[in-house]
Amino acid sequence: MKKRLEIRFLELSDYLVWKEAYENQSSPRNDWDHSHRKSDTSKIAFKKYLKNNNEQRKIDRAYYYGIFEKKTGALVGFIMAVDVVRSITQSAILGYTLFNNYWGKGYMQEAIIAFYSIAFKDLGLHRLQAGIEPHNKRSLKVAKALGFRREGLSKKIIFLRGDWQDLVQFAITCEDVGIKWKGEAKKNY
Ligand SMILES: CC(C)(COP(=O)(O)OP(=O)(O)OC[C@H]1O[C@@H](n2cnc3c(N)ncnc32)[C@H](O)[C@@H]1OP(=O)(O)O)[C@@H](O)C(=O)NCCC(=O)NCCS
Repeated sequence: MKKRLEIRFLELSDYLVWKEAYENQSSPRNDWDHSHRKSDTSKIAFKKYLKNNNEQRKIDRAYYYGIFEKKTGALVGFIMAVDVVRSITQSAILGYTLFNNYWGKGYMQEAIIAFYSIAFKDLGLHRLQAGIEPHNKRSLKVAKALGFRREGLSKKIIFLRGDWQDLVQFAITCEDVGIKWKGEAKKNY
């Protein structure tokens, strides 16, 4: 299938597409539709966002990527590996979100498939975990469609919307997607 998306770090020159992405989305479609909740889309706020991303990357803690639509150059969402654990674990939590005007196109499934190479080859990770709230049907559908392994339910593990919420835990390893782990984790990718 022809690839519709590009996944890369955001740069200062992306300021206008970043701002437009927030401005063009529709009103929230469900409880997990966070991306619209950024009130400050000034250049100063964008610079702070980039600075934080760079700092997290430097200490090998989290890697945030933009998902761009190739044909328009629009920023359609974000995908990230956060809470990176090295040593004998080599895992991270997978996070993802699409601006809601890009839902229903299969973009997140395509982005995650492209992200396997980034996570398992470039970042040297062995395992990605995704915790999804039991009622987040769209996200559950993505994890199931991609064959993520359901590993259980973590009760009251995350504080969101003023209360402790459960997460259905999913995971995928490099072997699951046919990538051999090379054990060459790069700290400052
Ligand atoms: C989770 C989230 C990324 C899922 O978005 P999505 O658009 O439903 O997921 P995908 O991009 O994989 O698209 C799948 C949908 O596109 C449709 N589709 C259209 N063309 C497609 C294609 N070429 N390939 C696959 N699916 C396609 C599918 O039928 C499906 O639609 P349906 O759910 O109505 O049946 C989105 O709801 C979101 O950003 N939510 C807010 C943040 C969030 O919840 N993050 C996850 C926290 S755990």
